[in-house]
Amino acid sequence: MPRHPFLLLLLLPLLCSHNTAADDDQPHNRFLQCLDSENSAAADSISKLIYTDTNPSYSSVLQFSIRNPRFNTSTTLKPLLIVTPRNISHIQATIKCSAKHGLQLRVRSGGHDYEGLSYASLLPNVQFIVLDMINFQDVAVDVASKTAWVQAGATLGQLYYAIAQKSSTLAFPAGVCPTVGAGGYFSGGGYGTMQRKHGLAADNVVDAVFIDAKGRTLGRSSMGEDMFWAVRGGGGNTFGVAVAWKVKLVAVPEKVTVFRVRRTLEQNATKIVHRWQTVANELPQDIIIMATIQKVNSTSTAQLTTTIQATFNALFLGGAEGVLKLIGDKFPELGLVKEDCTEMSWIESTVHFARFPANTPPAILLNRTITLLTGSAKYKGKSDYVQKPISETVWEGVWKKLDELGPLAGALVMIPYGGKMAEIPASSLPFPHRAGNLFLIQYDVFWNEDGAEAEERHVDWIREMYSYMTPYVSQNPRGAYMNYRDLDIGMNAVEGKTSYREARVWGVKYFKSNFDRLVRVKTAVDPENVFRNEQSIPPFSL
Ligand SMILES: Cc1cc2nc3c(=O)[nH]c(=O)nc-3n(C[C@H](O)[C@H](O)[C@H](O)COP(=O)(O)OP(=O)(O)OC[C@H]3O[C@@H](n4cnc5c(N)ncnc54)[C@H](O)[C@@H]3O)c2cc1C
Ligand SMILES: *[C@@H]1O[C@H](CO)[C@@H](O)[C@H](O)[C@H]1NC(C)=O
Ligand SMILES: *[C@@H]1O[C@H](CO)[C@@H](O)[C@H](O)[C@H]1NC(C)=O
Ligand SMILES: *[C@@H]1O[C@H](CO)[C@@H](O)[C@H](O)[C@H]1NC(C)=O
Ligand SMILES: *[C@@H]1O[C@H](CO)[C@@H](O)[C@H](O)[C@H]1NC(C)=O
Ligand SMILES: *[C@@H]1O[C@H](CO)[C@@H](O)[C@H](O)[C@H]1NC(C)=O
Repeated sequence: MPRHPFLLLLLLPLLCSHNTAADDDQPHNRFLQCLDSENSAAADSISKLIYTDTNPSYSSVLQFSIRNPRFNTSTTLKPLLIVTPRNISHIQATIKCSAKHGLQLRVRSGGHDYEGLSYASLLPNVQFIVLDMINFQDVAVDVASKTAWVQAGATLGQLYYAIAQKSSTLAFPAGVCPTVGAGGYFSGGGYGTMQRKHGLAADNVVDAVFIDAKGRTLGRSSMGEDMFWAVRGGGGNTFGVAVAWKVKLVAVPEKVTVFRVRRTLEQNATKIVHRWQTVANELPQDIIIMATIQKVNSTSTAQLTTTIQATFNALFLGGAEGVLKLIGDKFPELGLVKEDCTEMSWIESTVHFARFPANTPPAILLNRTITLLTGSAKYKGKSDYVQKPISETVWEGVWKKLDELGPLAGALVMIPYGGKMAEIPASSLPFPHRAGNLFLIQYDVFWNEDGAEAEERHVDWIREMYSYMTPYVSQNPRGAYMNYRDLDIGMNAVEGKTSYREARVWGVKYFKSNFDRLVRVKTAVDPENVFRNEQSIPPFSL
């Protein structure tokens, strides 16, 4: 693959056909005719739910769920059309017709894919349509059985809100960003603030409704345990369309405690980060302390200077006194004091982790477009797993690299493992990064400037950071997290004809030895590779 895949984008002609003549030979016209005939019996006509690029709402429907503005440019390869199904029959017809006419199908739920794969294509010459699950947003919580059915187009925020409406002591262990869609999130595993006690979101899925490549509606028992295993972490857009997940809720206390402690280099950040590496994954399961490292403007001197700051963000499933005692015993270097700790309900903690100001009403969780975590910046992310503590000298090299960019432009977000994460066997689900991992690093780079030069400068920076870290992170394979999609680690380069060997390059980084089982499941359930993209598991035959 080219070192700068984004350059491909710039060279691409505008491939989405702007032909205004009604030409029956155009693939999307044949597709539309096919949909019409497939759906003639449906009560709710599908034609109102289709947006071709000549429809005045096409751009607003497309842009509504674009969460990385990097793929919101005039040169981004866009879908021929978007279908927004309201009914399972609409999904079935869309799958059948796209398969019949050779159009690639990209399913979109929350639109947070780091590389924009749910609504854009980095491969040239791809004609694709988007199946947008925006109308599947229901969440049905059943307190008695402590379960909920979550439709794929619902966001994590909608799930959290719906649970809290029914109970103040039930919760779900999912991610920090409330606008993330259930469709993509569960498909890649899904971690969050309670993973050290309850594992991944996918570890807590007990049933699912999927539509497969043949258009069959499948539940857990009809899809079989192999497919049910694969869909819980093997990646989206690969085994079928996720319509809904049934999840097991977990118990939380009425009051949890959060803290956000910031330490700059002048406040011994290097020593504290060094210590954090080995402490955070050994702590009891009731606490998670995540660490974010960024360059910031210094507030300690009158002169304008910058420094590196580590922010320790924690959730403790208990009261403030308990966490003060725990940190005082096990991690005194952090210097946690009572004033740092705030007791709140679990639902309030989800608002806190999403960075909304204190006392923001939880209804903010229902907003699908407001995300303070990335703002309106373009971004690129990468990931690594750390299995041995990294020395202070190496961390100082990281600080130097962060210093090359402006304040807040680059970040390392580090999530400790251990606890329940280390107890679940590596083959239990496709997600293989369990015992033996100290923490996950997410590298991020953000920029606001338009154009190829700014993009190249920032993307080069994150690639250099990743290269610097090579000796200090997991090896053979160098692990990566599926939901932090990164096309640098390899991609299926030829549309529809991905070889096993080509896919294995990126596949073992996300899935380690689970990759082969995923290929076997894919071969059984989608031998024609109807569901595909730059990083979907290929069937053996291709
Ligand atoms: C700001 C931000 C914060 C994040 N925080 C976390 C976090 O705390 N924890 C975590 O684990 N991850 C986190 N992520 C990563 C996130 O889990 C992934 O980006 C996830 O894939 C997003 O799902 P989505 O439905 O929003 O995205 P989409 O872009 O809609 O989909 C992602 C992939 O899944 C496919 N897909 C989507 N819906 C379906 C469906 N219904 N059926 C089949 N395939 C489908 C898409 O085609 C695409 O390939 C974060 C991402 C962002 C941008
Ligand atoms: C969904 O589609 C089925 C099959 O075409 C149809 O019987 C049903 O009425 C539709 N439901 C809605 C709400 O449109
Ligand atoms: C996408 O670009 C359009 C203008 O071209 C803008 O109005 C819209 O806000 C942008 N959306 C995102 C998410 O970047
Ligand atoms: C930094 O650590 C040193 C010794 O390890 C200690 O004396 C000093 O008080 C610490 N500084 C801060 C701001 O905590
Ligand atoms: C969501 O938040 C954005 C940004 O604050 C705002 O413009 C929009 O109106 C909100 N949407 C809803 C449905 O409240
Ligand atoms: C840091 O300070 C500079 C100079 O005052 C300012 O332009 C910049 O916006 C600040 N950055 C942040 C992230 O606060």
